Amino acid sequence: MDISTVGIVGAGQMGNGIAHVFALSGYQVLLNDISQDGLEKAVATIRKNLDRQVSREKISQDEMDATMGRITTTLALEDLGQCDLVIEAATEREEIKDAIFEKLQPHLKPTTILTSNTSSISITRLASRTDRPEKFMGFHFMNPVPVMQLVELIRGIATDEETYQTLLKVVESLGKVAASAEDFPGFIVNRILIPMINEAVYTLYEGVGSVTSIDQSLKLGANQPMGPLELADFIGLDTCLAIMNVLYDGLADTKYRPCPLLTKYVEAGWLGRKSKRGFYDYRGETPVPTR
Ligand code: CAA
Repeated sequence: MDISTVGIVGAGQMGNGIAHVFALSGYQVLLNDISQDGLEKAVATIRKNLDRQVSREKISQDEMDATMGRITTTLALEDLGQCDLVIEAATEREEIKDAIFEKLQPHLKPTTILTSNTSSISITRLASRTDRPEKFMGFHFMNPVPVMQLVELIRGIATDEETYQTLLKVVESLGKVAASAEDFPGFIVNRILIPMINEAVYTLYEGVGSVTSIDQSLKLGANQPMGPLELADFIGLDTCLAIMNVLYDGLADTKYRPCPLLTKYVEAGWLGRKSKRGFYDYRGETPVPTR
């Protein structure tokens, strides 16, 4: 099936990055959010990130202008009904995602492929509540979307081969690489990455190292581009905790128990970069460790 129009639900960190890469690759993008302010901020972020690519000579000014011209925004979810592909990138709460699919469904073309950028919710379960489980898939991008090469493709139990093959081609057309994951909690990346972050928080909690020594150790000793605590702040501590809980509940193994210190930071509202405080304090010129 040919895809030319893409609807994206949710204009947050992931939604704006997904809109950016699809529009840059020539797709017509319709970006939806519940807040006009959210849509305006997303367009401003896309413009800033494209500008960065122009100044680093990754793309030309003409390509940037054409990309911006392919992005339209709407507050009306039903406007996405005529798209060939819909990517849900809203808040990581199952009841919100279910409500979006339910509201969208009566307006969809019969051929529209429905996907979720969920980082850990069961694709089979989300699909089962829609009218098209065979045309439903997990389509998981990594943050920052314009930079990260990987996209996880997750088939639900009912996903048909045509839908999977179509999305494989779409990923290729974005210049990215697909990894296929089975539909189990956390899929591949988060099954491995988030317990590593959780272990770094335990290492801090037990006083084995400070924020700085833990991050430096993994950056300089394991060649990771960001230390695990810096990365946790980047992903969002609430997201990290939510994923640990999905692993803990879904796999029923105590090795996935969330570190109490991670829970404490989330309860304090110290969610990382987005709230300006997490394992680092971002309110000044340079980030300062909070422990
Ligand atoms: N849009 C466009 N380009 C961007 C960008 C953005 N948002 N952010 C960074 N870039 C580009 C820069 O322009 C730069 O490009 P060039 O190499 O062409 O010059 C390049 O990315 C590197 O950026 P910087 O030099 O500014 O900074 P850096 O070298 O410190 O790299 C980073 C930044 C790419 C984010 C790097 O630190 C990194 O890879 N961090 C780890 C990210 C990671 O692990 N992400 C996965 C999170 S897990 C996830 O997403 C799954 C989930 O469900 C939770």
